[in-house]
Amino acid sequence: MTVFHIGECIRKTKSGIPLSEDEIRALVRGITAEGEEKIPDYQLSAWLMAVCFRGLSDPETAALTLAMRDSGQVLRWDLPGAVADKHSTGGVGDKTTLIVAPIVAACGVFMPKMSGRGLGHTGGTIDKLESIPGFRTALSREAFLAQVRQIGCAVAMQTADLAPADKKLYALRDVTETVDSIPLICASIMSKKLATGADHILLDVKIGSGAFMKNDRDGAELSRLMLAAAKTDGRDAAAILTDMDQPLGTCIGNALEVREALEVLRGEGEADLTELCLTIAAEILCMAGKGTAETCRALAEKAVADGSAMERFEQMVAAQGGSLRGDHPEVLPVSRCKRILHAAQDGWIEAMHSETIGRASVLLGAGRQRKEDPIDPGAGIRLSARRGASVHAGDPLLTMYAASEAQLDEAEPMLRGAIRISGTEPVSQPLIHAQYTNRE
Ligand code: URA
Repeated sequence: MTVFHIGECIRKTKSGIPLSEDEIRALVRGITAEGEEKIPDYQLSAWLMAVCFRGLSDPETAALTLAMRDSGQVLRWDLPGAVADKHSTGGVGDKTTLIVAPIVAACGVFMPKMSGRGLGHTGGTIDKLESIPGFRTALSREAFLAQVRQIGCAVAMQTADLAPADKKLYALRDVTETVDSIPLICASIMSKKLATGADHILLDVKIGSGAFMKNDRDGAELSRLMLAAAKTDGRDAAAILTDMDQPLGTCIGNALEVREALEVLRGEGEADLTELCLTIAAEILCMAGKGTAETCRALAEKAVADGSAMERFEQMVAAQGGSLRGDHPEVLPVSRCKRILHAAQDGWIEAMHSETIGRASVLLGAGRQRKEDPIDPGAGIRLSARRGASVHAGDPLLTMYAASEAQLDEAEPMLRGAIRISGTEPVSQPLIHAQYTNRE
């Protein structure tokens, strides 16, 4: 695309004039092109900012999503059964993929899952799995396919040839304050999901202080756009809006979250986390034609109760070079220094601010302050109580883990500020806010 054309695109989007599908395709080609054809970052940034202020129409959003999907390889699966995928829009303590993938695989639905690393205060599945000694997340396409065929699930690092336009655009959005545009988030997420090639896609849209979407209205709008984009591509999709006003479950930090995933797979998990994983797994099974909502919920519960989900998890870990058995979590790393934070007063936990807790976990070493930073797999936070719990002064609220006392000192005031104790019992908030599907 020439400079003239991108200038025209910027002018139109700035004025609220819709771009044609051809213009959007040409614009996306210009994102990954080299030489003359490449759109310079300054013009792309101007267009992104115009989108932030003026938005995109629904057809433009769908066209952008599909053009970004086609910017790289689009996978097609040839497996003897339904292929499903899930995506969480990102949160604190969200280890659902580690639990849902083996449950779904144990129930006969294939789940090839491509995941990413942590971003800002939110964790990433790849970092969590890499805390398992020996676990490999960089799999060749052949190894990935062979493992999915044999075990039913694999979780690998997203490859560079999957929606490369998103990689470039996301890096630019990150530094130009243009991340928080719902059409751009839709195109970013769905281009990657559609390129991964699953027939059924479950989208877990997080709502609250620790999430991109701060309220149900924005979550519903993002869901609507993502489901419409999936439908344009002929895929079956469902979205579930779930609470991220407090961290999910009790653990935040990589190896700690793997431990907690094992607890759920052993049937000993925290109630909200267990409920969400079973809901997501049952919805995926339903989409994949395994029966009614009740049948699928029973199938998911049975896979946990009879140990078949844990068996799949162990098989997946072994296939990817890791050494971890469900009943031997002690091989997982734990950081050297630990400190317990106690309640300063009697009352009820009114708030556990997810984003602040996520940022504190980064200070402890569980996440990255800069992209190139190493992470400490044994660092993080274990909550002793969650929102709504009644506590007495002196009761433990949480335990911090880090490589140094200095990190604990730095995170402590932040964590104290993240937890509010009140004299009145708070109104309970639902874990699941809404569910949508793109089926008729
Ligand atoms: N996750 C993505 O992959 N892209 C976004 O734009 C936001 C969250």
